[in-house]
Amino acid sequence: MDSPRDPRDGLLLPLASDPPDGGPEPRSAILVVDDDPGVRDSFRLILEDEYDVLEVPDGAQALEILRTCPVDLVLLDIRLPGIDGLQVLERIRVLDDRLDVILVTAVKTVKTAVAAMKLGALDYLTKPFDPDEVLPLIRRALEKRALEREVVVLRSELARRQDVDALVGQSPAMRKVVQVIDQVARTTATVLVTGESGTGKELIARAIHRRSPRRDRPFVAVNPAAIAESLLESELFGHERGAFTGAFQRKLGKFELAQGGTLFLDEIATLKPALQASLLRALQEREIERVGGTRSIKVDIRVIAATNADLRRAVADGSFREDLYYRLNVVPIVAPPLRERHGDVPLLVAHFIRRYSLEFNKPVTSMSPEALAALEEYGWPGNVRELQNVIERSVALVEGVVIQLQDLPLDLMLPDHAARARQAETLPLQEACERFERQIVLRVLERTGWNQTEAARLLGVHRNTLQQRLARWNLQRPGSEG
Ligand SMILES: Nc1ncnc2c1ncn2[C@@H]1O[C@H](COP(=O)(O)OP(=O)(O)OP(=O)(O)O)[C@@H](O)[C@H]1O
Ligand SMILES: [Mg+2]
Repeated sequence: MDSPRDPRDGLLLPLASDPPDGGPEPRSAILVVDDDPGVRDSFRLILEDEYDVLEVPDGAQALEILRTCPVDLVLLDIRLPGIDGLQVLERIRVLDDRLDVILVTAVKTVKTAVAAMKLGALDYLTKPFDPDEVLPLIRRALEKRALEREVVVLRSELARRQDVDALVGQSPAMRKVVQVIDQVARTTATVLVTGESGTGKELIARAIHRRSPRRDRPFVAVNPAAIAESLLESELFGHERGAFTGAFQRKLGKFELAQGGTLFLDEIATLKPALQASLLRALQEREIERVGGTRSIKVDIRVIAATNADLRRAVADGSFREDLYYRLNVVPIVAPPLRERHGDVPLLVAHFIRRYSLEFNKPVTSMSPEALAALEEYGWPGNVRELQNVIERSVALVEGVVIQLQDLPLDLMLPDHAARARQAETLPLQEACERFERQIVLRVLERTGWNQTEAARLLGVHRNTLQQRLARWNLQRPGSEG
């Protein structure tokens, strides 16, 4: 039995281990909402040494700030002019249900306490407050938030360990891609990833995000081709309540959901002209407007676009805006097709065997050299995704611990396959025939468990002929002496 190759050998990107950015922790931002300037002043005095303090006198302005600035904690007066504190709290929950709010009240009544807790307030402060009480309370609240964030980071770290997102490959073509990923990750430049279907464009986009200082912020993917055209604008930019029939609630679009992080615009060539125009505007202004909205909202996002279409041709034939093309194509990355990096096949095979043997809980460890050779010769029109599917299927079906040639799908072996044919055309006929013959012989031998008599019978040749061939090809049963 072959010893399993350690799939980690092939992993080029231990992505989370070496964060490129350093520097001091950013200060937490606290929003104080109180109509009494005296109260706001005293909060500021207590807090400003450690935190960034934002102050507003009423609920409307508080909500305005929360829509546009990152805030870590809100100190909210219950009795406010206009919208009262509890209502503000309710609306904050709609905007961001994970933002912590501490209520500030002059009279502590059980009724308001219950209402506030129901609405998810974290805690209470009673006026007049004691500075020695305020700081510990706030530190605890922010620590809790930091812990929650850490959980998010740890989760994604865990996912990385399970190497779901690992970008496998050590071929020169992949090394080049990885090098660009590393360089561009440090910047916020817009990236255009092009390549055939299944080459790993989305994986590359995720790798850029994970390597960037934005890694703890959201990675939001949107595929316009998968969304009804009539909903697409609201999907991207969000909508206000009542913007159109059925818009019962405000909804944030992908641009806003990606705030601070990375927005991945997949299959960009499918965007219709009207949306190309809106997208161009959003990228130029770094601002968006929700459907049915009247205000511009600043967005701080890195955009990565992907396509398997030839965008340059789309520009030439007028179906894609040239100005948008240049806006997107700031840093181009080309995901190389698998047939141009056959050296990566064994690494990918080991990687996927490991993944699927874990997933299916089967003791599959490796692939026979013949089977691997067949995969290395195949043309992979569906690229890594096709290879992944082949391995998934083989691991699911195989009975032993080693995947053999006969466990692979038949079409990988057939000589009339287009890619195989193309490849064979470039070979002298003699060599092409030999190669094909060798594969058929191997396949039958594997099927018969290397019973040469049985294999010769199935192949319709004399056993001696078979043995001569095996000697000429210097082939013997895997694992046997010689
Ligand atoms: N270098 C790689 N290492 C490991 N897995 C890979 C690699 N490249 C692609 N994959 C896997 O192959 C599958 C297809 O990759 P991905 O979805 O990123 O391709 P794509 O280029 O976006 O394809 P499409 O154009 O069809 O959307 C995914 O399951 C991905 O995890
Ligand atoms: Mg994709």
